Amino acid sequence: MSLQPLKLRNKVVPIPIIQGGMGVGISWERLAGAVAKEGAVGVVSAVGTGYRFPELVKRDKFGRPIGSINSHSKEALTKIIQEAKRLSEGNGAIGVNILCAITDYGRVAADAVEAGADAIISGAGLPLRLPEYVGDADVALIPIVSSARALNLICRTWEKKYKRLPDAVVLEGPKSGGHQGFKYEECFMPEYQLENLFPSVLEEAKRWGDIPVIVAGGVWSYKDIVYYMQRGASGVQMATRFVATHECDAPLIYKETILNAEEEDIILFKSPVGYPLRVIRTPFIERLLAGYNGWNGCVSHCITPCNKGEEARKVGFCIADRLGSAWLGNYEEGIFISGANGHLLKKQGIISVKELIEILTGKRPDPTLEEVYAVK
Ligand SMILES: Cc1cc2nc3c(=O)[nH]c(=O)nc-3n(C[C@H](O)[C@H](O)[C@H](O)COP(=O)(O)O)c2cc1C
Repeated sequence: MSLQPLKLRNKVVPIPIIQGGMGVGISWERLAGAVAKEGAVGVVSAVGTGYRFPELVKRDKFGRPIGSINSHSKEALTKIIQEAKRLSEGNGAIGVNILCAITDYGRVAADAVEAGADAIISGAGLPLRLPEYVGDADVALIPIVSSARALNLICRTWEKKYKRLPDAVVLEGPKSGGHQGFKYEECFMPEYQLENLFPSVLEEAKRWGDIPVIVAGGVWSYKDIVYYMQRGASGVQMATRFVATHECDAPLIYKETILNAEEEDIILFKSPVGYPLRVIRTPFIERLLAGYNGWNGCVSHCITPCNKGEEARKVGFCIADRLGSAWLGNYEEGIFISGANGHLLKKQGIISVKELIEILTGKRPDPTLEEVYAVK
């Protein structure tokens, strides 16, 4: 089956795959640019961009960006988006992932538009005011939801207040990397699994005039993509597989940490954002599990639900600092995120984005699937 192109507002993207945004620094210009160049949607993360160009921002003596204005830096985001666009050579599209929970959410959304983003993808909370921040700019607005109810609330609010609807919606199930839009126990319950949430979200999207539904969270192979597209999905969002590419912006130790992970090493942990966070058991997580508190003060004011470090102190770590440490390649102190299927990557190793897109579009055998191994 050849995959149908994905229509996002006024843009048609030949390959219906969105590379999921990965903060801090796992998806910036190199990854997003390479994905878009292959004709899919490359997504840069707007979170913690101050780490990308430290010379542009004010930092403390440990190198942490000071305040949200430096942590989610406009200058850095602009450079990242513009470089991603250059690398894409005019193919595909470049989106920006902005967590609803970040401090200065509205300002960062406006920054992304000004820098030329084709789409804004926003989860970890409901982006009920997103249209307000982008005005009449030609940018696709794509909320991430985990239920039909959430989609209904966004559509009702946007239609009433802003006379517009989402250009697409990402339905993210509980096998994804990073924050989950579910309670801890729900992540393991059959009724909250992606395949079981999908029909109700698709129906809700149809009620609002056929909003394209993109599925995410554990979608792994060409076979999975075909499964969802044959049932009415317009595309998929995938992240973990893109970490094991040469172009992924993460340092080598990040990629190796996922490649070395076994299934039982990928766990859900509490986060100052207020949602369960899927991470790999690395030395810092082991210390937290043993009761250690690694909170080191609030410098970046990165997310509002953390209440200026109050929640970070309770869970024992600052999310911005620890993702920043991982981006800087600090295996001992960083937090490393993976989707539930990350342990499969060792069968593939690090490949190019071009090769990965060929695998995901059925043009190449998938080395992570058992049956392909059997043939080899
Ligand atoms: C390393 C990593 C970092 C992530 N960071 C973010 C983020 O900052 N914002 C967000 O909305 N989603 C984030 N995600 C979720 C992805 O964008 C994506 O939707 C999800 O991981 C899809 O599931 P998959 O990894 O099984 O393909 C992250 C995922 C990974 C693996």
